[in-house]
Amino acid sequence: MFKFQDVTINKHILLAISGGIAAYKSAELVRLLRKQGAQVRVVMTHAAMQFVSPLTFQALSGNPVHSELLDADEEHAMGHISLARWADALIIAPATANTLAKCSYGLADDLLSTLYLAATCPVYVAPAMNQAMWHKTVTQENIQKLKSHGVTVIGPEQGDQACGETGFGRMSEPEEICRYLMFEPTTQCLSGLKVLISAGPTREPLDPVRYITNRSSGKMGYALANAALKAGAKVTLVSGPVALTAPINVDVVNVETAAQMHTAVMSKAEDHDIYIGAAAVADYSPVMMEMQKIKKQTEQSTLTLQKTKDILAEVAQMTKRPFTVGFAAETHDLEQYAQNKLVGKNLDMIAANWVGRDIGGFDSEQNALHVFWKQGQKTLAMTNKNQLAEQLIRLISERMEHRTT
Ligand code: PMT
Repeated sequence: MFKFQDVTINKHILLAISGGIAAYKSAELVRLLRKQGAQVRVVMTHAAMQFVSPLTFQALSGNPVHSELLDADEEHAMGHISLARWADALIIAPATANTLAKCSYGLADDLLSTLYLAATCPVYVAPAMNQAMWHKTVTQENIQKLKSHGVTVIGPEQGDQACGETGFGRMSEPEEICRYLMFEPTTQCLSGLKVLISAGPTREPLDPVRYITNRSSGKMGYALANAALKAGAKVTLVSGPVALTAPINVDVVNVETAAQMHTAVMSKAEDHDIYIGAAAVADYSPVMMEMQKIKKQTEQSTLTLQKTKDILAEVAQMTKRPFTVGFAAETHDLEQYAQNKLVGKNLDMIAANWVGRDIGGFDSEQNALHVFWKQGQKTLAMTNKNQLAEQLIRLISERMEHRTT
């Protein structure tokens, strides 16, 4: 049982904390989980207790913290079995390299590793360690082994580390881990639905060798295609020219110009339940394409452009229209412009992002979105585009469900 926004849930989360500095973030994780209505019980290794006091977790979870394998106070001294039975999900956060290695080999020499073996519920790990330890072959082998055993690995993220180095190894943020646990990104929330996504830039030719384009890499659109596929949807991707490979099982239509994208999307939209316009479609294209290379003759030259057809607005106007989600890329007044597009184009939802900044937006690995719909809004914090896409897909499915009910 989990909740969409305002339905109370009662999910039992067993949080196992191993000994790393990221243990302090787990305190916030407990708070967030409880805020979402989950019951939380905490298990700590002895090393973890060197970083944060069990009292902190006892106060936040409202339950005693467990650390001993043989706990005389537990029924039949079989604490690990009763805790494992109680849990709807087990999350090890932070999961150190040592803990990951023990779990992957099935060692059970303390409460945490024994619980991992005893657990029959879904297991999640949020690794946290120095970047060199994370990249070490044996750690990567252990991670692969855990994945093949059905464990969901959350993160780690890239960035500054407590040891002073920079790289992959930071534990994912508590909000992100909470989302995984409470909203199950692998849930088949779009099962049976057909999703049409546009991605990448368009190219508007000036002559046989030149064109007008933009900085879109297609990463956001392709990540959405992947997330929709994972959510159980049948996915069609209309893609401008990008250097990416589409996920297997996605039906790809490659286009180059805004006009071609318009034709491709309009021919498919009616047959889909959801349309997500993540492409950066040219707003203007040259009135005519010269058939020969334009020669350098005058000191100044003027291009005459004409407006392209607004694909998103046309989809939203269809009589039998899909749930229509637009993107807004803005360098200023993000909220105002996004709201105008939501209403002006009659969209079901719009995902607005800042562009032209140091991080996020065009051709970045990361992004953040401010999502608006007619009755509400939600901020999806800066994270990599794959995770962001999963969050947006869940939000779309929630809003569709809300609309139907
Ligand atoms: O591809 P990446 O490098 O990963 O970058 C992602 C992104 C920044 C391109 C993406 O997240 C994004 O913001 N895409 C929309 C970019 C854009 O063109 O925004 P806009 O505000 O100009 O357009 C608003 C909406 O209208 C968009 O959904 C766009 O697809 C759509 N549109 C625009 C013009 C047009 N002729 N037809 C359209 O359908």
